[in-house]
Amino acid sequence: MIKKCLFPAAGYGTRFLPATKSMPKEMMPLVNKPLIEFGVDEAIEAGMSGMGIVVGRGKHSIEDHFDHNYELEHEISGTPKEAKLGDIRKIMDSARFSFIRQRKMQGLGHAILIGKELIGDQPFAVVLADDLCINQDGDGVLKQMAALYEQFRCSIVAVEEVPEDEIHKYGVIKGSVIRDDIYRVDDMVEKPAPGTAPSNLAIIGRYILTPDIFDILEKTKPGKGGEVQITDALLEQAKRGCVLAYKFKGKRFDCGSVPGYIEATNFVYENLYED
Ligand code: G1P
Repeated sequence: MIKKCLFPAAGYGTRFLPATKSMPKEMMPLVNKPLIEFGVDEAIEAGMSGMGIVVGRGKHSIEDHFDHNYELEHEISGTPKEAKLGDIRKIMDSARFSFIRQRKMQGLGHAILIGKELIGDQPFAVVLADDLCINQDGDGVLKQMAALYEQFRCSIVAVEEVPEDEIHKYGVIKGSVIRDDIYRVDDMVEKPAPGTAPSNLAIIGRYILTPDIFDILEKTKPGKGGEVQITDALLEQAKRGCVLAYKFKGKRFDCGSVPGYIEATNFVYENLYED
């Protein structure tokens, strides 16, 4: 069973400046719930109870969000407003939160390596909170991936087909089909130059990683953009053994972009929000 989920949350969120000047991008709300809470919900649904969050400077509000606010709770205690805290209280009862700082932004791979302290020697999930994943017809994406892990026991990346003019924004895999929705990864490239992508299968922000990834990350040299890329470490892992790519069931919204964020907000308002 996968018990822990890591949330790299140290990035700046520059696309949303000035909103993200002092507010973490992971705390941007979709209507009334911060992005990171959607990710935590998904991890809890998948049976995980240890949430490890890699933060940077100015990210205290993430810690505060998953803790008590005694003054507020006292003020609204016994009023109808108290119901609004029901979901977050359930989360606090179901999960433990631990935090570690990434002092310098050196890439997603580096952030995951920093998270080793919180994970230890066990397989774990990674959620990038700015990818919102929703499956209204069944299990959430992490739950789907955790079930696959039980079967295959190797690292798994979630992939989605994206249009050619957008593929350069993602890590992209090349794979051999194992099942109609599963590929064995043969190659992987981080943000390929336009026209050079090995396929239209983009990695989105859900991963299951086996703990040998940490040793590989220790030795992974900075790649695209001068940053340590998880994509490069996963390619090494694929060469040594096996990495799978899974075409998940459900919808993904790129909340790291303004149009994706607006689309997700409308979706949440119309389908998930309860007043
Ligand atoms: C990161 C990963 C990339 C992946 C993407 C998914 O990139 O490096 O491989 O496709 O997340 O959202 P970022 O969006 O942080 O630049």
